Amino acid sequence: MSQERHPSARRCNASNPLAGYCGLVAQRYGILYRLGITPWEHEEAPEQLKDLTEEWAMPVGRALDIGCGTGSDAVYLAEQGWTVTAVDGVGQALSKARARAQSRGVEVNWVQGDACRLEQLGIGDAFDLMLDRGCFHDFTDDQRDRYARAVSAVANPGAVLLMFAFQPRRRGLGPRGVTGEELMRHLGQDWELLSSTQDTEVRLPRWLGEIRPTWYRLQRRL
Ligand SMILES: C[S@@+](CC[C@H](N)C(=O)[O-])C[C@H]1O[C@@H](n2cnc3c(N)ncnc32)[C@H](O)[C@@H]1O
Repeated sequence: MSQERHPSARRCNASNPLAGYCGLVAQRYGILYRLGITPWEHEEAPEQLKDLTEEWAMPVGRALDIGCGTGSDAVYLAEQGWTVTAVDGVGQALSKARARAQSRGVEVNWVQGDACRLEQLGIGDAFDLMLDRGCFHDFTDDQRDRYARAVSAVANPGAVLLMFAFQPRRRGLGPRGVTGEELMRHLGQDWELLSSTQDTEVRLPRWLGEIRPTWYRLQRRL
């Protein structure tokens, strides 16, 4: 894991049975961040997130950005008045995210740790809005089950989970991807699928293959 000294990073690496998992994430994504191969990085928050906060007039509350990367979405939410916590496994991404928040004059609780162990990161619970842009679709089935338990544990009843994920691809490089059915196999017990919409606007490199990026909007059952 990155050498950044954050308490949650210690928790993630030290004495829990998943020791090493964050290390692997950090290694893979860490290398990509170091090499500057970060096609997911963006400055503007996606319309789908803006819709929730603006068009749907979702009242501001506690938001959690899962796999926040360099933090543009977390910063956007903080600018809209949300109380934001943002988690990522890679210290280098979080350093850039911190600098971004500082330059924009907003506060975000940046936490280095494993998205599949949210309930162990000391971030509290009762989140009203959760964003996952490109994190879940990379996980193994076991990680997806753990993730489902973790997000359910920290979400308020009625909370919204907005997820951006690739569909499984036949060719190309990149994340494993997930279908809507697979997603609900993992999350369906606690979450209802409100909508699933293919993103035809987002521009991503062709080497990723036929990924058909999709936005899912889910709601935590009451
Ligand atoms: C495709 S990037 C997207 C980053 C950000 N959401 C964005 O849209 O710019 C996926 C991010 O998830 C993080 N990540 C992947 N697996 C993780 C895990 N198990 N725990 C925490 N972060 C993870 C990576 O470090 C990376 O920053």
